[in-house]
Amino acid sequence: MISSANGSLLCRLGVVVTLASVISLSIMFSRFSPSHNCPPPLPKPKLNSEQNCGKSNNSAKSNNSVTEKAEEKPIVLLWVWPENYRFEFSDCKKFYNIDNCHLTDDRALYNDADDVIIFHKAISWDLSNLPPSPRPPFQRWIWMHLESPTNTKKIPGLENLFNLTLSYRQDADIPVRMRLMTRKKPNEDFVIPKKDKLVCWIVSNNSPSTGVDTRNIFYREFSKYIQVTLFGRAYAKFLDYNDYYPTMASCKFYLAFENSIHKDYITEKINGPLAAGTVPVVLGPPRRNYEIFVPAESFIHVNDFPDAKSLAEYLLHLDKDEDAYRKYFNWRKHLTPSPHLILQTQEFILAICTACDHVARSREYKEAHDLYDWYFN
Ligand SMILES: *[C@@H]1O[C@H](CO)[C@@H](O)[C@H](O)[C@H]1NC(C)=O
Ligand SMILES: *[C@@H]1O[C@H](CO)[C@@H](O)[C@H](O)[C@H]1NC(C)=O
Ligand SMILES: *[C@@H]1O[C@H](CO)[C@@H](O)[C@H](O)[C@H]1NC(C)=O
Repeated sequence: MISSANGSLLCRLGVVVTLASVISLSIMFSRFSPSHNCPPPLPKPKLNSEQNCGKSNNSAKSNNSVTEKAEEKPIVLLWVWPENYRFEFSDCKKFYNIDNCHLTDDRALYNDADDVIIFHKAISWDLSNLPPSPRPPFQRWIWMHLESPTNTKKIPGLENLFNLTLSYRQDADIPVRMRLMTRKKPNEDFVIPKKDKLVCWIVSNNSPSTGVDTRNIFYREFSKYIQVTLFGRAYAKFLDYNDYYPTMASCKFYLAFENSIHKDYITEKINGPLAAGTVPVVLGPPRRNYEIFVPAESFIHVNDFPDAKSLAEYLLHLDKDEDAYRKYFNWRKHLTPSPHLILQTQEFILAICTACDHVARSREYKEAHDLYDWYFN
């Protein structure tokens, strides 16, 4: 306890120090969003007002137990590394300019963690590797799962454990997706990249258990009528990740065929061609579903045609009709795609960063009941 005289002195001192740091910080950080600045000085004694702006001292970051208390950012604990693909948490800032939570994998912070991300596929069947009970009353558990229902194991006992869902599904609490961004000033500079291949397809997974039958049956028929250049692990023609975007760009069309067909299950397979300057030919949920995320005239849907043969004929026609082909890029004027990360070890960065950003903005109480009812129906 401090006496009132000391208190008011400290108060003034605190205000002066805080003001000084606010001014210098707002100069330093003026290009960042407001949430990254120090909170305005409060009219009460604050012995550690400088620490509250701990971001000005990066060396303090290495000592978790101190900075967490000082920072106002929620602590988000990644309980296990999905598929053991580790990355630097600073990648969230680097790739997505997300810096508003304190991500950690340090289980010693469990009791302080505002949110815990739990990767569905890593949960053991007997639930023995879940975080310990009792759970701090303020803490929310985030169910992280990015596979489609076809590729989801129903681990029993999870129905009433979680608070938030993190998924590709648009109706998840935290939906994960690369989105096209609108732009006010039209971009007149876009040039369609030079093409030396007609249709390309990169296939890394061809395991029948993952639901790839539909696309394989379609592909077998389709490839009778048109030349397709194949790449990827499934075809022993491995594409180095440095070659991913250049190769994608050199194809007129790209087969963005999902492995299984489910609502909202529209993956980076469509983002790649859109970002590279190639027309995606999609196989997945109905066209209407795609049009929630990307403009109708930016892609070709296999269901637009009665059969694989007529699709092939249409692509061959577009190959000859430069004007008609170019129309598929009109959206580029008003929308900007972002390339997604392509290394396998980067697979979960977007989801984890998206979770960080979401929980920093929304601290609502929530229970996610009947997880599987929601996911499978
Ligand atoms: C940051 O904090 C460390 C440890 O408290 C201290 O040694 C260092 O001088 C500080 N650096 C700055 C730039 O304030
Ligand atoms: C962090 O700081 C606390 C308090 O000063 C200290 O006890 C602890 O050992 C430090 N931890 C690390 C990892 O430096
Ligand atoms: C999180 O969900 C669990 C299980 O439904 C519930 O008991 C708990 O009160 C919830 N906590 C918060 C902070 O939302």
